[in-house]
Amino acid sequence: MRPWTIATKRQPGRGTRMDILTKTLRGDIYRKTRAHSEKGILGFSGVIDASDAMRSFFGHLYRLASGHLPKLPWLTWRAIRYLKATLPLHARVFEFGGGMSTLWYEDRYAEVHTVEDNFEWYSALKNSARSAHIYHCKDESFIESIDRFPNDYFDLIVVDGNFNRQSCFHRAEPHLKEGGLFVIDDSDKQQLTGGPIRDLDSWLETCNQYEIVRLTGWIPASFWVKETTIARRLY
Ligand SMILES: C[S@@+](CC[C@H](N)C(=O)[O-])C[C@H]1O[C@@H](n2cnc3c(N)ncnc32)[C@H](O)[C@@H]1O
Repeated sequence: MRPWTIATKRQPGRGTRMDILTKTLRGDIYRKTRAHSEKGILGFSGVIDASDAMRSFFGHLYRLASGHLPKLPWLTWRAIRYLKATLPLHARVFEFGGGMSTLWYEDRYAEVHTVEDNFEWYSALKNSARSAHIYHCKDESFIESIDRFPNDYFDLIVVDGNFNRQSCFHRAEPHLKEGGLFVIDDSDKQQLTGGPIRDLDSWLETCNQYEIVRLTGWIPASFWVKETTIARRLY
């Protein structure tokens, strides 16, 4: 590898490299700039975005320098504010794919269940979680893990794991209360390649059972823009 090149985080094929300038400006090969989501939407639509961008910039530098991860979901700042403003404290939460988010949810909401496929992340979460219930499952059992709960049980279901997000979403649908929220993170992904996230995203556009809110913006501890989608079940 030439000294001024670094491997991209998500490579479309082995051996793909980005030069440092491109990596600095774009973050990865799927966006025009760090300020654009993978759908090409610019992450500056109001004054609040400038403040979010500053927080993301310094958070990113701090994470790189210290390795410290803030106790926050890896959703857009806009989505985090939306949850804070709308989700009641007595909410029951199910999360496909855990992380620092799990610790944030358990600090705020009454009941948190997280399924995680990566054993190291699972063990780390098991050790740090205070009250959240953490399950280790892979493949189909990851997707089916929500079936242990009754229908209409959860106020919030977060689809943010390593397994097929479209399958997780559809499996989870009966378990969300009327008026409850789905969070589908990274809903701007797979624009070029196609895949389950993109298929789910297109399906949501045609489905009238949910009110859809698109929250494009900056995220904690990483300096780039992405999209988090919130789908409220209407009936
Ligand atoms: C998109 S992450 C899930 C993030 C989590 N829902 C959150 O908001 O913090 C998907 C998977 O990456 C792994 N993961 C979690 N936190 C991570 C982190 N800080 N850095 C790298 N991988 C992480 C876990 O295996 C997780 O299921």
